[in-house]
Amino acid sequence: MKIAVNTGGGDAPGLNAAIRAATVAALKQGWEVYGIRNGYGSLFTDDPLVKLTHEKVHGITMLGGTFLGSANRGNPFEMPVKQSDGSVKAVDRSDELVKRMKDLGIEALVAIGGDGSMIIANKLSKKGIPVVGVPKTIDNDIVGCEITLGFDTACSIATEAIDRISTTAESHQRVMIVEVMGRYAGWIALHSGLAASADIILIPEIPFSLDSVCNKIKQIQSFGREHAIVVVAEGAKEKGKSHFVKGKAVGQAEQLGGLAEYLEKKIAEQTGKETRSVVLGHQQRGGSPSAFDRLISLRFGTEAIRALAEKDFNKMIVMQQNELRRIPLNEVAGSYRAVHLDCDTVMTARDLGKSLGD
Ligand code: F6P
Repeated sequence: MKIAVNTGGGDAPGLNAAIRAATVAALKQGWEVYGIRNGYGSLFTDDPLVKLTHEKVHGITMLGGTFLGSANRGNPFEMPVKQSDGSVKAVDRSDELVKRMKDLGIEALVAIGGDGSMIIANKLSKKGIPVVGVPKTIDNDIVGCEITLGFDTACSIATEAIDRISTTAESHQRVMIVEVMGRYAGWIALHSGLAASADIILIPEIPFSLDSVCNKIKQIQSFGREHAIVVVAEGAKEKGKSHFVKGKAVGQAEQLGGLAEYLEKKIAEQTGKETRSVVLGHQQRGGSPSAFDRLISLRFGTEAIRALAEKDFNKMIVMQQNELRRIPLNEVAGSYRAVHLDCDTVMTARDLGKSLGD
């Protein structure tokens, strides 16, 4: 069999390990393996594939990023195409893409990606491409997954950054606001905020009130502490308002951001405290994967090949209760996994006296 491996959407630590695992396991089956360069968009170019061999994937388990390249603009169902008047329009080029894959002799696909990639994988499977999905995203928000590859590393990076910000906050008696990624789910903020002992953690699942946030800061001050740490998910929102959006390009998801800057002004005004904001941004996605992420990436990657070998197509690999399972792509596509408000981590935050802004 000749298979292709694609990495789509924002990168995450562990992608290279997953590519390596899928490649080595597929070669063991006697299959030919190709990597798609820079996402599906390259299939419309002359040289889209890189042949994956043992040599090509040697020594990459510990490397961050994806050596195949990735793209947020590679959705074949909504390809941004420049029009004659200069404007950009989303065009469905999926039939062309499926034909191109077939012309290249690709018989099956391992689609490593986040929620957007699983929507694409599901649609491609309906157009006759046998697919197995591997869940990747630092956001940890894919339906059916208890953990996605990249989340553990991102949380560690965010936790270390918040630790560092805490010591400078204390020196200067400031309120420091740290904005972390996560899109519409608060996993990174909740986990890293708790791990780094933040005072206030704002997540999209719990709309916050400014009064509640400022009252917590004043309460901390009344107990004799002059600094406070506020961790905010980029998608968190004030009660009755929407999340902050920086932009939206054709064929791409909206770009979130701006909450920390907004809160910096509001908290300073309302509490009189000197306040600073920091946006951690893409460093949460970069660098070496943790041991945990390396291991789940290797487990996911080889399981994807076992699924293909068993012709158990159009599934996504998930880890549930530390065991690998396969769930239909249909069940995953088009939705996301939010933090449950009654989960024990939320209860832990409340029992530790953290403010969740509500
Ligand atoms: O989905 C992963 C993620 O890192 C989100 O947390 C974040 O909102 C987004 O991607 C950023 O994407 P980009 O790389 O396009 O800025």
